[in-house]
Amino acid sequence: MHKDVERILFSEEQIIEKCKELACQIDDFYKDADHIFTVGLLKGSIPFMAELCKHLQTPLTMNFMQASSYDGVESKELKIKHDLEASVEGEHVLIIEDILDTGKTLSNVKKLLVERGAKDVTVVTLLDKVEGRTFDFKADFYGFVCPNEFVIGFGLDFNENYRQLPYVGVLKESCYK
Ligand code: IMP
Ligand code: MG
Repeated sequence: MHKDVERILFSEEQIIEKCKELACQIDDFYKDADHIFTVGLLKGSIPFMAELCKHLQTPLTMNFMQASSYDGVESKELKIKHDLEASVEGEHVLIIEDILDTGKTLSNVKKLLVERGAKDVTVVTLLDKVEGRTFDFKADFYGFVCPNEFVIGFGLDFNENYRQLPYVGVLKESCYK
């Protein structure tokens, strides 16, 4: 275990098993669709997206977007650092995210992709910090409910570090206090 990790919450094996379960749920949901347009939110979603997509049977394309939210509630306050290269018009869009906390980023990104003409938009998140929610937002699919603590690994960072850890763990308080 990394020296800055207080405890492991979800091991690599648990995450891989969960990705297989999620892929079954998602394939079932999209059984009548011929193609899914996945949108990974950079950078945190990369390890989760890579693992999840290995297990999906529905044909898909991998697309990426980097976005963050300003304070405020409107989607115009969404700051897009890297935009999609393909149009979502008429597509079955699946947004893939590492963690859902307040819900602000995902609700804004979802709203934007609906406005751009996606046929439908669903959201899958590896972790759901249910207690952090300040926006009325629910993921269509989630891996694990996450305690209201600062977590790192499997894509999740603290100051851009620790994304490469193969598990999700709680960051030691001494690292940020
Ligand atoms: P939201 O808009 O508040 O739901 O923001 C979600 C984003 O906050 C995620 O994409 C992460 O970048 C970040 N985040 C929230 N909680 C954590 C955490 O415990 N560890 C690392 N990043 C987090
Ligand atoms: Mg993120």
